[in-house]
Amino acid sequence: MPSENFDPVEVAALQPEHLDAAVDAALAAFAAVTSLDELKTATLAHDGDRSPLALANREIGALPPAARKAAGQRVGPARGRVRQAAAARQRELEAERDARVLVEEAVDVTLPTTRRPVGARHPVTTTMERISDGFLAMGWEIAEGPEAESSWFNFDALNTPPEHPSRALTDTFYVGSDTSGVVLRTQTSPVQIRSMLERTPPIYIVCPGKTFRTDELDATHTPVFHQLEGLAVDEGLTMAHLRGTLDHMVADMFGPGTITRLRPHYFPFTEPSAEMDLQCFVCHGESVGNPDRPCRTCKSEGWIEWGGCGMVDPRVLTACGIDPDRYSGFAFGMGIERTLMFRNGVEDMRDIVEGDVRFSAAFGVEA
Ligand code: FA5
Ligand code: MG
Repeated sequence: MPSENFDPVEVAALQPEHLDAAVDAALAAFAAVTSLDELKTATLAHDGDRSPLALANREIGALPPAARKAAGQRVGPARGRVRQAAAARQRELEAERDARVLVEEAVDVTLPTTRRPVGARHPVTTTMERISDGFLAMGWEIAEGPEAESSWFNFDALNTPPEHPSRALTDTFYVGSDTSGVVLRTQTSPVQIRSMLERTPPIYIVCPGKTFRTDELDATHTPVFHQLEGLAVDEGLTMAHLRGTLDHMVADMFGPGTITRLRPHYFPFTEPSAEMDLQCFVCHGESVGNPDRPCRTCKSEGWIEWGGCGMVDPRVLTACGIDPDRYSGFAFGMGIERTLMFRNGVEDMRDIVEGDVRFSAAFGVEA
């Protein structure tokens, strides 16, 4: 039972000097801390359950009721000053930390990246798709055949006589020996035969694909290249339909106004046959007969051959079980690398095939 005569000022812990000293010690401690962790420790020491001011506060309970109010009026504000000081120091340290983090964790968005560049399909692939899309839009279908092809499909069925020079080892890659009967297809034309054997007229197909020849790499040739074969078999098809189809393809790929010429030629499987040339996009024919301005892209010929074409030979139709008295057909086979050269102004085919990513990167990341 607390004594009525108890003077709170007499209790050491509640003496004003003691309280002031406790507050001063707390403020000094808070001012001295340099981190939020240190502040936490100092706050515990000066405002925690076992701090001098908390202990002083506890003494109040032991005072006679009459003395409690005066004691409370000294201890309460003292504790309030300590808490305010702790809170103020906390805000200061937090602001310092935030400012430091902004500097330390700053990201320099202009630094060079180590990210791998996004891959993209090769422009030969996208060109092949682009040209095929023009035919799909007209209702034609895509047909396929193997790259390692039987020489029967690649030559015999296409009416190519056994002694034809294109069969020679100098033109054709044979798989295994030259008597294996299997070649890397030298053209996409065997797909004409496969399509006619598999389908019944009307037939409207294109076949984009890889082809192989023992050609030397130069500005307009590569041993592995691509062609787009086209075949139409229907009633009443004429050379005019072939010409119209080629003109449409030229306009679709190169824009209107592209200068072309159709030149009589010979293919064993078409009659009549022709080759289509595009006027050289580098010299526009001005290198012809002009030794001062040679053009390596067209070899100063003024024209670059784009592909072969013709009316399907009736003997080929018959061999594929199609009645040539009822049906006629036209076919064509265009070079894809040369299409890409013309479409995008690539002056040397070697740039297309050599695999330097700086070349294909210039075409962007078309999906
Ligand atoms: C043919 O291959 C025939 N099959 C085309 C054909 C199809 C005629 C249907 C009639 C009917 P040619 O050998 O001319 O024809 O080749 C066609 C095109 O392929 C050439 O005009 C050229 O654009 C491309 N080409 C040929 N050889 C190469 C090569 N080594 N590198 C790049 N492109 C080539
Ligand atoms: Mg040719």
